[in-house]
Amino acid sequence: MAENKIKKILFTHETNILQDVVNFLYENFEKYSWIGIYVVEGNDLVLGPWKGLQATEHTKIPIGKGICGSAAASGKTEIIPDVNADNRYLSCFISTKSEIVLPIKKDGKIIAEIDIDSDKKDAFTRGDKEFLEKVADMLSKHI
Ligand code: SME
Repeated sequence: MAENKIKKILFTHETNILQDVVNFLYENFEKYSWIGIYVVEGNDLVLGPWKGLQATEHTKIPIGKGICGSAAASGKTEIIPDVNADNRYLSCFISTKSEIVLPIKKDGKIIAEIDIDSDKKDAFTRGDKEFLEKVADMLSKHI
């Protein structure tokens, strides 16, 4: 089960576990086309480990801007079934059709987030949300 495999990665206490988890998600979930972890630094989100075919130009996003910044401001998961229908969306890749952003919290404070783009429209189900919220929770001790 994916959740247990991620737990195992986190238990290894290696230095690059965040990158390992990002790689694991990329390799095991075909519809996850690009995965990144943004970390809160002051009033911005700064891109940390990521995996995908292309780098993004959005390596620093002000809190409140874009889907990523909205999730960081509200502390709530954002699921965008059609990115082109959401005017907050900051475009990174032409191929992206849908997106999910999950805040990572520590002691009630938002410290980071997971951002996943999919090349499939409406890719993120309630199952993805529940699973990825657990992953966000597991990662909070490792940011
Ligand atoms: N689409 C995001 C920006 C990050 S890229 O998807 C990697 C947003 O609207 O905040």
